[in-house]
Amino acid sequence: MSGIKLSGDSSGTTTTGGMTVREMTRLERIGAHSHIRGLGLDDGLQPRKGGSQGMVGQAKARKAVGVIYRMINEGKIGGRAILLAGKPGTGKTAIAMGLAHQLGENTPFTTMSGSEVFSLEMSKTEALTQAMRKSIGVQILEETEVMEGEVVEIQIDTSFASGDNKPGGKKGGMEKTGRLTLCTTDMETVYDLGTKMIDALSKEKVTAGDVITIDKASGKITKLGRSFSRSRDYDAMGSQTRFVQCPEGELQKRKEVVHNVSLHEIDVINSRQQGFLALFAGDTGEIKSEVREQIDAKVVEWKEEGRAKIIPGVLFIDEVHMLDMECFSFLNRALESDMAPVLVIATNRGITNIRGTEYKSPHGIPLDLLDRLMIVSTDPYTHDEILKILSVRCEEEDVEMADDALELLARIGTETSLRYAIQMVITASLAAEKRKSAQVEIEDIKRVYKLFVDVKRSTQYLMEYNKEYMYNELDDSDEYAVDNGDEEADKKEDSMETSP
Ligand SMILES: Nc1ncnc2c1ncn2[C@@H]1O[C@H](COP(=O)(O)OP(=O)(O)O)[C@@H](O)[C@H]1O
Ligand SMILES: [Mg+2]
Repeated sequence: MSGIKLSGDSSGTTTTGGMTVREMTRLERIGAHSHIRGLGLDDGLQPRKGGSQGMVGQAKARKAVGVIYRMINEGKIGGRAILLAGKPGTGKTAIAMGLAHQLGENTPFTTMSGSEVFSLEMSKTEALTQAMRKSIGVQILEETEVMEGEVVEIQIDTSFASGDNKPGGKKGGMEKTGRLTLCTTDMETVYDLGTKMIDALSKEKVTAGDVITIDKASGKITKLGRSFSRSRDYDAMGSQTRFVQCPEGELQKRKEVVHNVSLHEIDVINSRQQGFLALFAGDTGEIKSEVREQIDAKVVEWKEEGRAKIIPGVLFIDEVHMLDMECFSFLNRALESDMAPVLVIATNRGITNIRGTEYKSPHGIPLDLLDRLMIVSTDPYTHDEILKILSVRCEEEDVEMADDALELLARIGTETSLRYAIQMVITASLAAEKRKSAQVEIEDIKRVYKLFVDVKRSTQYLMEYNKEYMYNELDDSDEYAVDNGDEEADKKEDSMETSP
């Protein structure tokens, strides 16, 4: 398939060979939590009503996480840990995502699932260390020299170079030379341009009347906008044109630039075997502790000199009951270090075995770690809240649904699970599409309810036809629980670990 546009011009769609390709920006993927855009709190940390920022209900937990948000945002705390505990589908992951949005781009937020530490090609503690260091931001301030001014004129001469008399020179190649005149309100200077600068200027489409900066060290050109003095000549220019003042004073200026990196990125760049390319491959391997010690010392030094700021971010570990004793004790210790992020963990387990041991503990978390946690619990949703969440999802997935259909879906959600109901939104809309209706009606919900069974019905079916399945071990006295999908896997793994 060819012709997918990355950034479209004014026309929304392109037709290539009879095939319509939608603009990429409109094809943004919809994830389970893509409707969540924050915690939906007002300035006094009170949850706003009516699905603000995609968040519905769960007021107590949102408020609690709002307090955490305040503390993180003020930059004072690190090394605290918060546990989100509650039944499956009560919005634990959603609230963590809300916190991430609320904190914004400049606060690092790392998300991982407990089981991830077992699947990487490195030790568990290394995986956790990397995750921790990804969650600590370092803001490095740097002064650079730039030239900033309004372009008065660009003059480019192209001449054919003979090339014959130059050893290794391109035969008959084009040679470009040029001059650039820049001005501020106080002065004007003409600069000679080399080929590289000419290319850079034409790549950025710089023309007379643009206000630009040129980084002296790297030669990087940045367009700041069009000068106001030109605003009259360009009535026909699009509304996206930004007009700026012609700079004042000297053409050469010192400018402060801020680089945002994480400790992990500094680690990778400085670990000699891999270098920064490993950042792109994601295959960073294990990093020596000496490297980290040096970096920590350096960062502290920069901080004292006022050249860097440390920003403790958040490490979020979902399904934290998948961690084992070794991981928990590592976390316990790591939280005490000076440069620890805020740890947010989530679990849906009650009193259960700590992975790989015979010890039972609340949430499957050892008591000494539990003792440090601030626990935020999430409660199951009411019918009305489920209805509201579903209507938010309909909006997110661009689905029109009749009120009575939504009501039915909410009832299904209350009786089965919120997640099952959410899955039905898009499937029901496909069913409606099939009957060429723009709106989902009750009959579409009924149809997909028959096509896709929920866990309860599936289990019932399994019990009825138990004998016909392979490896059935169902004990009649056993109460089955909903959402214990990975529990079985847990048990198997555990027994493998403990048996020699
Ligand atoms: N309070 C809420 N407001 C809006 N959407 C929610 C809320 N709680 C849960 N959801 C949505 O319901 C689904 C299940 O919630 P999730 O956060 O995955 O539950 P948990 O992590 O507690 O098992 C997700 O799609 C989530 O975005
Ligand atoms: Mg979850």
